[in-house]
Amino acid sequence: MKAPKTETSARPRYHATDDDCPLHWFDADWGAFEDLERRIAEHPADFFAGDDFEPAGACAPRAAQFASVELPENPTAPQAHADHLLHDVFRHVMPVASPTFVGHMTSSLPSFMPSLAKIVAALNQNVVKLETSGALTGLERQVIGMLHKLVFGQDGAFYARWLHDAEHSLGAFCAGGTTANLAALWASRNHVLRADEGFAGVNGAGLVAALRHYGYDGLAILVSERGHYSLRKAADVLGIGRDQLVPVAVDGDGRMRIDKLREALDDLKARNIRPMAIVGIAGTTETGAVDPLDAIADVAEEAGCHFHVDAAWGGATLLSERERGRFAGIERADSVVIDAHKQFYVPMGAGMVLFRNPAWTQDIVQHANYIVRKGSVDLGRHTLEGSRGAAAVMLYANLHLLGRKGLARLIETGVDNARYFATLIEQQPDFELDSRPQLCILTYRYVPEAVRTALQAASPAAREPIQAALDALTISIQEMQRDAGRSFVSRTQLTSSQWNGRAIAVFRVVLANPDTTREILQNVLAEQRELAARSPALPALMGLVGLVGE
Ligand SMILES: Cc1ncc(COP(=O)(O)O)c(C=O)c1O
Repeated sequence: MKAPKTETSARPRYHATDDDCPLHWFDADWGAFEDLERRIAEHPADFFAGDDFEPAGACAPRAAQFASVELPENPTAPQAHADHLLHDVFRHVMPVASPTFVGHMTSSLPSFMPSLAKIVAALNQNVVKLETSGALTGLERQVIGMLHKLVFGQDGAFYARWLHDAEHSLGAFCAGGTTANLAALWASRNHVLRADEGFAGVNGAGLVAALRHYGYDGLAILVSERGHYSLRKAADVLGIGRDQLVPVAVDGDGRMRIDKLREALDDLKARNIRPMAIVGIAGTTETGAVDPLDAIADVAEEAGCHFHVDAAWGGATLLSERERGRFAGIERADSVVIDAHKQFYVPMGAGMVLFRNPAWTQDIVQHANYIVRKGSVDLGRHTLEGSRGAAAVMLYANLHLLGRKGLARLIETGVDNARYFATLIEQQPDFELDSRPQLCILTYRYVPEAVRTALQAASPAAREPIQAALDALTISIQEMQRDAGRSFVSRTQLTSSQWNGRAIAVFRVVLANPDTTREILQNVLAEQRELAARSPALPALMGLVGLVGE
């Protein structure tokens, strides 16, 4: 059996191979994929702007197209499969690298990245251990060290002592912010309920025995009500329980209220529940708000609990001398999570957890005789995941090729664009800014002028149906805009301080792509205004304020 060939290109070989071995079927026949690579990977934003791409309806359900569950029995010709991928799949993905895609945290990448990713895929190293990754183990430790210094700013002697210490680690790479948050809280749980006189520790004896030993009726994690849902998963997986993830109210700017944090701690104490960790957010997912980290650090210190900072989105802001002041206090955290695949502009699949004190990794250390052996420098001794790819190489490349200054410029461009867009929205008579940008995220909605006036004048009871109709209009505009495929914003539902804490539907914009121009942002508003006029949700809203047909 052999795969049908398309074309051949001669390449020198250094090892004799059996051409009939399936792994070698394509050794001289990758032309179809090289062509695809040229058309897509060399400049994704051009691919998204070109004729090969069909933006409209990318989010349409495609169940019928992907309905068969039969494994293909016989090989397909590479050209046929490449054509299928282009026409039926890649043609209909979301254009995240396009400067008009301003709705989510996934943006464009430096242009060398696809080539580097190809090399990393070809080398197929597994950084779980030295024996499958060689130099990459040292490289990953160095990158973690650079990020550790960016956050915690320890001196040279500290890094000389700990950076390559086999028994410790300054942090770990993970698949993303979710796993990184879980890893941080895993260490926290194991540290709080650690081994003690006559007790093996929660990681040995389990949670029930640990609570009995320490005399607690439960554990809790405190985070602002804007915490990322990955923290709920962590509370669930760690046996703490999602109900013990205590949401703390935020102020009008979406930042955790310290008075409410103290109240929540008092309540836990009265119920004999041990506050395991307080999580500060350095850049909330929905509005980019930054919690008062220094004040939270004070409270965590007083309460004797772990201070964790979720900087999955915002962490890269520390690179900017101009903006990093907002994060004062992050250096007092016990652990910090930063996603490289967000504002460090590396491909998907790269999160990091950093521990201020390298001894914290002792609380999660694992061994196995065939791998991650005691005394080895294997990275897998201190990670939640086992086999992992060499994502650190991508961040290593960005840190070198863009440098701190280049990355800081990207951050500052995003913040400047967000400030510009917020001002533009405020100047419109028919748009309402809901969250002012602290980083490069903001939220707003379309409110026809007459509805704005009616809302201001209405009693709270009369306001409610108008708000509900506005929510329907926001959702409708967002879906119409997404399906039209010219530009994209996301949406969420957030308690709004300007509307007495009612949760309103809003557009959410993330301005991480430096190629997003002011003209594009003006066009986004113009398109939304146009879509509103055609939205099936508009008549009901206008009917409520008595303006049908005006
Ligand atoms: C603040 C925050 N924390 C954690 C996460 C989870 O990260 P990931 O999606 O990489 O798992 C996100 C993702 O958007 C986030 O914004």
